Amino acid sequence: MTQTNNETLTLVTGGNRGMGLEIVRELAAKGQHVILGSRNLVKGQQAADQLATDGLSVDVVELDVTNPDSVTQAAKQLTDKFGYLSVLINNAGAVFDFGQKASDVSVDTLQKDFGINYFGLIDVTQKMLPLLKKAPQAKIINISSMMGSKTEALNPESVVYQAVAVGYQSAKAAANMFTVQLAKEMQRDQLNITVNAIDPGMVATEFGGATPEQAKSMGAQPITHGVARTIELATDWNNKDNATFSNTEGPVAW
Ligand SMILES: NC(=O)c1ccc[n+]([C@@H]2O[C@H](COP(=O)([O-])OP(=O)(O)OC[C@H]3O[C@@H](n4cnc5c(N)ncnc54)[C@H](OP(=O)(O)O)[C@@H]3O)[C@@H](O)[C@H]2O)c1
Repeated sequence: MTQTNNETLTLVTGGNRGMGLEIVRELAAKGQHVILGSRNLVKGQQAADQLATDGLSVDVVELDVTNPDSVTQAAKQLTDKFGYLSVLINNAGAVFDFGQKASDVSVDTLQKDFGINYFGLIDVTQKMLPLLKKAPQAKIINISSMMGSKTEALNPESVVYQAVAVGYQSAKAAANMFTVQLAKEMQRDQLNITVNAIDPGMVATEFGGATPEQAKSMGAQPITHGVARTIELATDWNNKDNATFSNTEGPVAW
């Protein structure tokens, strides 16, 4: 079915669980036509079926952000079915290093962190850009992390000061710079496409292998709190914010 260009069409990567699924749920409930990206189609369909029991209808696309063929195929499917995209939410992310020192964390581990959090995000963005350019206005929202903030990492008062996940933090910091560069490029080219980075805060999901209950006991916030700023940005059609890094509380230092 071909959609009209008036409908807000939103793609969420890593949409089958955690914050991605909540973003899918809330944006669908607000009337956006949401495409749930999932690297495992069965898991994606199960998530969509779960939403359907709440009366929410979403599309599902197979999308492994670290597999270039999968990303190309997903872009082709969206091109054939819709011909445009209004909102891209680069949510898929993972951490592969836990406490290894900067002096000896392996390059192999660093490559895994960068594979999903940096190169995967960029591959999806570049392949979806032609579709975003077809929408009257569009936005790219990159789910980053305060863990990628060098300002916070150097601030003894910050929770990030004690954190050691060199690969994950470096990849999120690099994704932040990509956010800034792409935002400036879109502006220079006078395209109505904004690009922003989000820090969800510490959120009770299965991220990093913990259970949501374990994360909660360490002070993690509910998922709805973690996605609030993303939902605000994804539904703000003034489309003024560009090249920002923010969380639900306000701006975050790069
Ligand atoms: N939770 C936090 O405290 C926190 C804090 C700051 C930032 N973040 C960021 O927030 C985002 C969402 O995190 P979350 O807490 O919701 O994590 P999560 O519960 O672990 O969910 C991660 C999602 O990413 C998907 N994914 C993993 N590898 C993928 C790949 N190669 N291609 C496509 N999808 C892939 C997972 O799919 P599978 O089910 O197939 O594994 C899952 O849907 C991430 O970018 C994370 O870095 C999280």
